[in-house]
Amino acid sequence: MKTAILISGRGSNMVSLLEAMADPDYPARPVLVVSNRADAGGLARTGAVPTAVVPSRGRMREDFEAALDARLRESGVEFIALAGFMRVLTADFVRRWEGRMVNIHPSLLPSFKGLDTHARALAAGVKIHGCTAHWVSAGVDEGRIIGQAAVPVLDGDNEARLAARVLAAEHVLYPRALAIALGAARPAPDAGARILAL
Ligand code: GRF
Repeated sequence: MKTAILISGRGSNMVSLLEAMADPDYPARPVLVVSNRADAGGLARTGAVPTAVVPSRGRMREDFEAALDARLRESGVEFIALAGFMRVLTADFVRRWEGRMVNIHPSLLPSFKGLDTHARALAAGVKIHGCTAHWVSAGVDEGRIIGQAAVPVLDGDNEARLAARVLAAEHVLYPRALAIALGAARPAPDAGARILAL
């Protein structure tokens, strides 16, 4: 499946997806990485995979999304993985890619939709936190869940420590969840399965 990865920042989830896609048996091939910001650090970490910048700032949503859609189609993209893509997509765009677009969110949905998930998890005093890979639907962070990975919240955690623990889980979860979204066989249980539910 010809896949595009959409980013806005450092791109660590993108790197974990690209590493998985380097395996010829993986069901997705990366054909394009798109950022809505020219200064996204991830753009320098794509290796041989082509990159494109489709700027969103100061632009009408519809114009941005028309340009994004055109760029994706130019590269023959069949499937989209959002990976730290920080722009909310309109229902129109989502409908056009329905069933062909997934996202990673840094909380155990449906808890803590939106931004600042780690700070809110700490403020709420939850003892288990984590991340969710899900299909993208018109409601933000509301699409059907593909898989989740849980991490403990430890005494003395601050936002940065908790975020780092969740991010490590994201890097394990997302490539597996994307493979499942693409219809690949469920991965055999292993040590990682203790924290993963796919
Ligand atoms: C990740 O925590 C992702 O879940 C969230 O934004 C962060 C992006 O990190 N949506 P990176 O760009 O993948 O390193």
